[in-house]
Amino acid sequence: MANHETASAAASTEAHDRSRSHVWYKPGEQLSLSPYTIELFQNYSKVPADQVAAHIIQVRDKAWEVYPYPCIGSFRFLDFAITESPIFATALSKLKSGGKYLDLGCCFAQDLRALVYAGIPSENLYGADLQSGFIDLSYELFQDGDTLKSIFFKGDIFDFSTFRPIRGGNADPDLFEKIRGDIDIISARSFLHLFGPEQEFKAACQIVDVLKDKPGSIVMGRQVGSFTPGIESISLGRREVFRHNAQTWKEFWDRVGEATNTKWDVQARLLELSPDVKDSVKAAELANIETRGWLEFVVVRL
Ligand SMILES: C[S@@+](CC[C@H](N)C(=O)[O-])C[C@H]1O[C@@H](n2cnc3c(N)ncnc32)[C@H](O)[C@@H]1O
Repeated sequence: MANHETASAAASTEAHDRSRSHVWYKPGEQLSLSPYTIELFQNYSKVPADQVAAHIIQVRDKAWEVYPYPCIGSFRFLDFAITESPIFATALSKLKSGGKYLDLGCCFAQDLRALVYAGIPSENLYGADLQSGFIDLSYELFQDGDTLKSIFFKGDIFDFSTFRPIRGGNADPDLFEKIRGDIDIISARSFLHLFGPEQEFKAACQIVDVLKDKPGSIVMGRQVGSFTPGIESISLGRREVFRHNAQTWKEFWDRVGEATNTKWDVQARLLELSPDVKDSVKAAELANIETRGWLEFVVVRL
């Protein structure tokens, strides 16, 4: 594993509070399921409607033990954000015609499952995460071990030599090297915001390297942003991160472009946090509570 802040933050798991009284950990009774979530679990995962909530809660609790990310504790992995992205239709048509998708820092890889549910051939979809435990739990959550043909890699974005296929069939151990540079769409959802400014920049340059070297390649996702962009200290991993707005995100990709000799069209908007997320942020007594938002982005190679 590369020697850098996030790998060590994620590896030093004992340092993190897995208590169920933690502010990011929502008790199961607070789980509210959207009609889409119930439909997907019923039709794709074959979980009876009246058991969907209990099923999700018990797998979520196992994932919280792997690493207590806020998106796990507060059930945000049920957002299926890709289905709400302004380029969902474009993504579907690219992938239907054979394009390849990588869910980076996939955890439960819920958006990958939403794509399969929308009719995309699963063999064109890949997932990657530092923690193999999350990848295993993603099969348990979606109950698709016998049907899903996607390959999942365990790997650290800062060191491509660590990428190994761990689930999805008897893949070539060097498969990642073969698909590197051949990916049409990367989902980087709640991912780049994990890293301090220098590491975030390096991770974005690595993303450019994995994408197809052609106009039209896409990086999409959303992450925590701020209406007053700047450095913020976060307790998870005890580090400083830069919270972007649409303008600083564009400038960030301009710098990534200069470093990688590429050009990017950046469409980004900062959305207000939903009231329940705002309440958790307040309860966590985090700085800059009022100015936080969700930065939703689509970054397209020119
Ligand atoms: C906050 S979670 C987001 C998960 C998922 N993308 C979502 O939106 O629900 C961040 C994920 O990134 C993974 N991760 C953290 N550092 C990583 C690294 N250096 N390389 C690859 N994955 C990493 C974590 O294990 C975790 O699954």
